[in-house]
Amino acid sequence: MPQGLFITFEGLDGSGKTTQIKRLGAWMRKRGADPVVTRQPGGTETGDRIRELLLNSRTGGLAPLSEMALMFADRAQAIAEVIEPALAAGKTILCDRFTDSTEAYQGGGRELGSDLVLAMHQLICGGLQPDLTLLLLPSLERSLERARRRNERAAADEAKDEGRFEAEQEAFFQRVWEKYRAIASRDSERVVTIEGDLSIDEVQEQIIEAVTMRLTQAHKK
Ligand code: TYD
Repeated sequence: MPQGLFITFEGLDGSGKTTQIKRLGAWMRKRGADPVVTRQPGGTETGDRIRELLLNSRTGGLAPLSEMALMFADRAQAIAEVIEPALAAGKTILCDRFTDSTEAYQGGGRELGSDLVLAMHQLICGGLQPDLTLLLLPSLERSLERARRRNERAAADEAKDEGRFEAEQEAFFQRVWEKYRAIASRDSERVVTIEGDLSIDEVQEQIIEAVTMRLTQAHKK
């Protein structure tokens, strides 16, 4: 199996990314690949500390620009420590969220706009782009319903307080959802959107189809 692809997963909270990343990782390992699996925010020691600051609901009054800058601080660390070394070694990376999340959540959700996020991306990440982005995007109604359920669960989970984003209102998630759609239609080559209210197995099938196609293209280059 050819190696060296940078694959990101995107979607709203509760879209099932984590399950699908695990499944794709297992599928690749069965075929002899050894993908590096990571997530943002987090995935490095420094990044995990930034993650705790960003997601803990006790972090009150964080200014949107500060939130965006912290997301990029985390990303810069992940690129230096995990992503670049893995790509240099010819490994495939499965990354749970990348700059599209910042564009959707801070650009859309927090209404900072895309231009600012993309300019930061250019500066901090040198424009590094995934080879393939798998966007899990069920209908708006279904996405909002899942986000609401996540809210309730996050509120009940006192041991692991990562509920700061989950506590946002529906209008916030609607803006995130709309920004994801806009990203997907702008970057239609890179982003494969998996839409509709599908089962876990059906989503996995579509993911494997998209990855196989991209691997074949990469192999031909
Ligand atoms: P996480 O627990 O990883 O959520 P999920 O399992 O849904 O991916 O939390 C990450 C949260 O951080 C999620 O609500 C989205 C948000 N986020 C941003 O707002 N901007 C970003 O750039 C990134 C990477 C994440």
